[in-house]
Amino acid sequence: MKFINLLSACAVIFSQVVSTSSPEIESEDAQLYFEELAVKYGHPAQKYEVITEDGYILALYHLPGSKEVPVLLMHGVFGTSDIWMLRGNISLPIVLANSGYDVWVGNSRGNRYSRRHVYLDPDHDPAFWNFSFHEMGVYDLSATIDTVIQKTGVKQLNTIGHSLGTTLFYVLGSIRPEYNARINVFIALAPICYLNHIQPLSSTIAKFVPVLGEILNKLNVHELFDEPTRSIVEQFCTLPVVGYKLCVEEVLFTFIGRDPEEISPEFARIAYPHFPSSCSLKNVLHLAQLHNRKVFAQYDYGFLRNRRVYNSSVPPEYDLKKVTMPVAITVGRNDKLSEVEDVETLRRKLPNVVSYEVSPREEFNHLDDIWGAHMDVYLYPFIFKILEQYSES
Ligand SMILES: *[C@@H]1O[C@H](CO)[C@@H](O)[C@H](O)[C@H]1NC(C)=O
Ligand SMILES: *[C@@H]1O[C@H](CO)[C@@H](O)[C@H](O)[C@H]1NC(C)=O
Ligand SMILES: *[C@@H]1O[C@H](CO)[C@@H](O)[C@H](O)[C@H]1NC(C)=O
Repeated sequence: MKFINLLSACAVIFSQVVSTSSPEIESEDAQLYFEELAVKYGHPAQKYEVITEDGYILALYHLPGSKEVPVLLMHGVFGTSDIWMLRGNISLPIVLANSGYDVWVGNSRGNRYSRRHVYLDPDHDPAFWNFSFHEMGVYDLSATIDTVIQKTGVKQLNTIGHSLGTTLFYVLGSIRPEYNARINVFIALAPICYLNHIQPLSSTIAKFVPVLGEILNKLNVHELFDEPTRSIVEQFCTLPVVGYKLCVEEVLFTFIGRDPEEISPEFARIAYPHFPSSCSLKNVLHLAQLHNRKVFAQYDYGFLRNRRVYNSSVPPEYDLKKVTMPVAITVGRNDKLSEVEDVETLRRKLPNVVSYEVSPREEFNHLDDIWGAHMDVYLYPFIFKILEQYSES
């Protein structure tokens, strides 16, 4: 009897230790989407439609705040605006809005919220999927920035990108340099530009992707993670125990770096219904080219077609010297996609890096910036320091 009491006392103490050391997991958030999550955490969002020059219809969410300079957040590959909102009350848009920031969250073409076009049908027109991060930068990011400027009447905004969401800024800043002046500061979380140092499995897959791409194109597959595929991934990856073991431990952590303390099984069950979201095959082919060709350049169509598209047998490189916006960079030591050596190369090539931080946490991986259980402790001070510094200037 005594022993049982002792055991149950231990269990109570243990559960308290566990519950104070890791934030509450709100399991219903798995099935809530951007607007519902925004309401639940106290900041009802307004939704805008952004129409790009080439006809894509993008969703843009706004959590109104009183501070003058708005903050725009851009998600990475296979993401949506939701990936920023999965950590309940420590989600970045919520924490920013709680501090009075006027927060805008974008969605790039092809994802769940931006799978629309004025005349192309994503389900029947392959031309809808004829884009990569190049078009997301040149057309989507520019139109999104212009919409925020138009709605708020400001001249400049603060911006935060994660992963491929950062690439869009280097593309836009180099192809349309006039946009540099519209950005007060750009905070690059886990930046993606050079992919020279990625390791197996990512590097192996990058080598294999062009062949796979040919096959999928022949099979008339141009969209990755369409709704039926996404739903199968969700069902499998949210299975108890085995879902986490295979989808996170074996697959996701191999790509992004292992950090089970920050990205736990309970959290993964919330994340998988939201990720991966749809995107074009061409986007992944272009990403693979960054590794295979070891340059940050436009899409490589092959020798003959390059001549027709670019008037040159090789695709033009993006000129990072033209990306003159102030950039604050942070990268994790254990980030297997944004390898520190590659981020160093980016840092050397950008002319206006105002802050650079390699996270002191050894386990900091590629998704801890958006999904880490304690990112409010190890990441947000960096973000707030930069935003505060640039709200004065
Ligand atoms: C978030 O919510 C939890 C539980 O509801 C609460 O204990 C915590 O203080 C909240 N944190 C913030 C930053 O509001
Ligand atoms: C895709 O876009 C490129 C560049 O804009 C163009 O040259 C090519 O013909 C397009 N391909 C298809 C299948 O629409
Ligand atoms: C194509 O490139 C050549 C030299 O590289 C240049 O002389 C020519 O004017 C270019 N043509 C066009 C249409 O830009």
